[in-house]
Amino acid sequence: MVRSRKGPLPIPWWEVKREMPPATDKLHTADMAWWAKARFGMFIHWGLYAIPGGVWKGKRVPGGGEWIMNTARISDKRYAQLAKQFNPVNFNADQWVKIAKDAGMKYLVITTKHHDGFCMFDTKATNYNVVAGTPWHTDPMALLSKACRKRGIRFGAYYSIMDWHSPDQVGADPAAHNYNPAHMKKGRNRNYLRFLKRQISELIRQYHTNLIFFDGEWMHGWNRADARALYFHIRRMAPAVILNARIGFGYGDYLTPEQNIPARGLPGSWETNMTLNNTWGYASWDHDWKSSAMLIQHLIHCASGGGNFLLNVGPTDQGMIPQPEAERLMEVGKWLKVNGQAIYGSDRSPFKTALPFGYATQKPGKVFLEVIRWPKSHTLAVPMTNRIAQAYLLANPRIKLKTTSGSSGQLVHLPAQAPDPAASVVVLKIKGAVKSTEAQAP
Ligand code: GLC
Repeated sequence: MVRSRKGPLPIPWWEVKREMPPATDKLHTADMAWWAKARFGMFIHWGLYAIPGGVWKGKRVPGGGEWIMNTARISDKRYAQLAKQFNPVNFNADQWVKIAKDAGMKYLVITTKHHDGFCMFDTKATNYNVVAGTPWHTDPMALLSKACRKRGIRFGAYYSIMDWHSPDQVGADPAAHNYNPAHMKKGRNRNYLRFLKRQISELIRQYHTNLIFFDGEWMHGWNRADARALYFHIRRMAPAVILNARIGFGYGDYLTPEQNIPARGLPGSWETNMTLNNTWGYASWDHDWKSSAMLIQHLIHCASGGGNFLLNVGPTDQGMIPQPEAERLMEVGKWLKVNGQAIYGSDRSPFKTALPFGYATQKPGKVFLEVIRWPKSHTLAVPMTNRIAQAYLLANPRIKLKTTSGSSGQLVHLPAQAPDPAASVVVLKIKGAVKSTEAQAP
């Protein structure tokens, strides 16, 4: 699962599969309005895998920390013993939600059950859960969802359909503790679906869940009928809840490119999810942090393509969001305090081609130019014919920028220094929709 984060990546096959045309018998009832405005959310991968933290028998285990059960070939029985050690005494739900809030994030999506099958919520469907099965005896989802409501953050649940602990599923090579991809055992779809429905109902009823992020739908034996049954079960129960397209077979409300941002965005609703280093679940040895400037630019890139950015943290087994993660999130939050107008509630770029200086977003009557590469000429060429009524920097709205008309559009004259090395936002006030000059370009 380790993928380079240098340069744009081709969309891998499982994403292509996920981009199949949507199922035609969908009910379009999800409340997408808040989500489309939100633009920035916190992903949290937290489970038993935080205990080994990417190390097994003294050796580093490559790849995502949350995959350690599979990658280090740990038997289910041995892995399950980790539950007896899970006691995150430093966990503070309000602190996590405050970090999300201060980062400028509007929603949170946390692993309620990852591929390992261990449930991080209070469930009556299995004892393999954080309340019944750990010395902690605490339901972190109840605390997080409460803290989210207090701070005006929407609560979302990640849930893996593939389940390496489920009696209904079997791994690819059980003798070798190779779980991926799991297969549904013969004749067990109905049973597993019953379990799924029960757990998803619990998640919706117990935690005011606004969104469910499914995953692991690539397991063998998960079929269209199952996806459809699960989809309509949720729709009947909670019509407004948003579902990602990893439910499979074209069901769901939005696409989830992973670790990559499609250059010009995707049509419809989409969200890139990304790690701060190279792992989702905590790995003690992974210090390969993205810089805050890079994160800010990724967020802008998503917004300019009409998408959201779901940025992951991997808390420790003690319940702490690692300091380097929190620090970077605070930097993004600082940037958003000044420049949030260009991101929240914005629409995708009005321009079809990439802009040499960075990105664009828009709102009625306004174009926002997010300048990543401050031009040496101190002039921005904007490929549109609209007259600019006013131009200014979000970092200093009182100082108006000079604008002139050029041969291929409008020119905005900038000060010598960029106000922010990560990205500086120029606002252009215009009348009506953007009239781009790009169509005439050779
Ligand atoms: C993948 C991985 C998983 C991670 C997820 C995030 O499907 O299997 O570990 O949770 O992507 O999108």
